[in-house]
Amino acid sequence: MNARKIIIDTDPGQDDAVAILLALASPQELELLGITCVAGNVPLPLTTRNARIICELAGKPETRIFAGCDAPLERKLVTAEHVHGKTGLDGPVLPEPTMPLQAQHGVEFIIETLRAEPSGTVTLCPLGPLTNIASALQKAPDIAPRIAEIVLMGGAYFEVGNITPAAEFNIYVDPQAADIVFKSGAPLTVMPLDVTHKALVTQERNDAFRALGTPVGVAVAEMTEFFERYDREKYGSPGAPLHDPCVTAYLLQPDLFTGRHINVAVETHSELTLGMTVADWWRVTDRAPNATFMGDINAEGFFALLTERLARL
Ligand code: RIB
Ligand code: CA
Repeated sequence: MNARKIIIDTDPGQDDAVAILLALASPQELELLGITCVAGNVPLPLTTRNARIICELAGKPETRIFAGCDAPLERKLVTAEHVHGKTGLDGPVLPEPTMPLQAQHGVEFIIETLRAEPSGTVTLCPLGPLTNIASALQKAPDIAPRIAEIVLMGGAYFEVGNITPAAEFNIYVDPQAADIVFKSGAPLTVMPLDVTHKALVTQERNDAFRALGTPVGVAVAEMTEFFERYDREKYGSPGAPLHDPCVTAYLLQPDLFTGRHINVAVETHSELTLGMTVADWWRVTDRAPNATFMGDINAEGFFALLTERLARL
């Protein structure tokens, strides 16, 4: 079977790093056309640095990495060093990257790729604020029907917010961009906190990463040990939530997840609930369904897949 063509749009971020590693470990199933970086967890110069560090760690320096937008469409950038550390990839000590960044802007790469590849063959995998994706849709509306699927990490409903009482970080940073994406008409699959907060790196799971004994296994153990502090303190979680790897795992093994095809709308005006994903989980409105919003995960199966694949790098 031909590998699925994907573009990962990302703001690494330790969890983004694990999502990218899982994709790079799965070339039979996923053809990674490129990685586009966006400002989010940390500013753009750091997200492009971190993406290159991760690809070199995986032994894939030929991966094409692009710099995208350095600020949200309208709002001032909000970052998350309090979660990911000042570099955005705190935890392991990894060498500065030597592989190049592509000269083309990430938004142009997304547009060009969607126009060049056969319609309906490219999946977009946003793992951070949706600024690059929305910018591409605004600049080239013709690409919307050409997108096979957008599988994104973002939003929350039953789990409510992690950056405000109402909003999840990726949506909150650029709610205008999220609104554009959720209204784009492209097939949309959403991995919200409702799911990712059930993908927790317990000590046993972290030990399994470290027991791989490889540079990747040890680095992932160190990354998750670093960024679990925030969730342990805030939620009393038994470990770090692997938000973004849920996107990659869905591409590899969709039956790990269950959800509903419902309407999901984004709050873009109220300061109180800005960035909230209003998911019509109980279908109490006549708003048309526009997203498959995931509600549950087979966590044991997820970690078995992740650990097995990381062992391949
Ligand atoms: O709220 C979690 C999301 O925000 C994840 O994608 C994490 O990497 C940060 O970008
Ligand atoms: Ca992210």
